[in-house]
Amino acid sequence: LRTHRIAVIPGDGIGREVVPEGLRVLEAAGRRFGFTLACTEYDWSCDRYLKTGAMMPEDGLDRLAEADAIFLGAVGWPGVPDHVSLWGLLIPIRRGFDQYANIRPCRLMPGARTPLAGRAPGDIDFIVVRENTEGEYSSSGGRMFAGTEREFVTQQSVFTRIGCDRIIDYAFRLAMTRPRRKVTSATKSNGITFTMPYWDERFAEAAKRHPGVATDQFHIDILCAHFVQHPDWFDVVVASNLFGDILSDLGPAVAGSIGIAPSANINPERKHPSMFEPVHGSAPDIAGKGIANPIGQIWSGALMLEHLGETAAAAAIVSAIETVLEHGPRTRDLGGQAGSAEVGRAIAELVAEGAPAA
Ligand code: NAD
Ligand code: IPM
Ligand code: MN
Repeated sequence: LRTHRIAVIPGDGIGREVVPEGLRVLEAAGRRFGFTLACTEYDWSCDRYLKTGAMMPEDGLDRLAEADAIFLGAVGWPGVPDHVSLWGLLIPIRRGFDQYANIRPCRLMPGARTPLAGRAPGDIDFIVVRENTEGEYSSSGGRMFAGTEREFVTQQSVFTRIGCDRIIDYAFRLAMTRPRRKVTSATKSNGITFTMPYWDERFAEAAKRHPGVATDQFHIDILCAHFVQHPDWFDVVVASNLFGDILSDLGPAVAGSIGIAPSANINPERKHPSMFEPVHGSAPDIAGKGIANPIGQIWSGALMLEHLGETAAAAAIVSAIETVLEHGPRTRDLGGQAGSAEVGRAIAELVAEGAPAA
């Protein structure tokens, strides 16, 4: 029996409600496809911060390094400033393990209702490839003359040649595995005069290295508009850390619900474990009610299995998600009445028995 060691961090809010559903489905897949998950659960969270003053222990990354993959729910809760909680847990994992490729697929699934008129499944099927370790998310900057009239704050963006090249190359390689073979670059070189022209230069160089791939590029403002008006134009969209963050909430929203969007934080060299988590956060407004959509978490589990080489199991989970999206049960964000556990159980049952191809 194959065993995969998984570090599980439910985190905060609905993270704690959707992670158990993700595990339920992963375990069902293991029983059917002949592997086991050796899970170690960590209570690292805002609760822990309020009790101990730290989101995770000092040797937190060393402990996670033992795992084959990390399965995370969400981080952040009112009462702990977001920059403290996120920079105390989520971002150190992404950076510490050099998970520079944040892969965020976005697909209009049968049964998921898009807010766009006249769009059908097949019209929206793209992947946001987000740089995940540098760019606008930097710790370089600070506050000067605090409390005086001359007070000011700065935050530098950091774009390294290695950092740009490796994420843009990743996007091109991914595009070559897809039928349309196209990469779109998100830029803002009309307004941001150092980093974005540099990003454009690195993108142009990468395009020369991959002659079989079609390319285009848009400024981030009109790109957001095109996501809504022409989502069918896009295949692989490569973006800096902040632009990728924005596009990866917008994409799922046009495809129906942020509650179903998965993400993979990949260290492509496999020197460190990769991390799998939904795109959404801890959703304080609905937490504690058992009504969160668990599909983003469950789909992230499928991406994790794919990364671990369990491709048949991953495909079975995606197919079960498709069936449940089409026939129910559905959570409220998709117009249904079901709770998280009901949806999790329905998907787990289909995975266990062999979901019919959707
Ligand atoms: P959010 O994604 O938590 O919630 C945004 C809206 O989407 C809310 O109305 C919420 O109810 C809804 N929603 C989100 N996930 C859902 C689901 N699975 N099912 C149904 N509805 C869902 O974003 P936010 O409100 O900006 O952030 C809340 C907290 O989470 C903050 O502390 C933020 O920093 C943090 N956050 C963490 C992550 C992460 O851990 N990766 C991602 C985003 C936000
Ligand atoms: C995400 C989140 C995080 C990010 C926040 C919570 C720091 O929005 O995973 O998309 O910006 O990366
Ligand atoms: Mn985000």
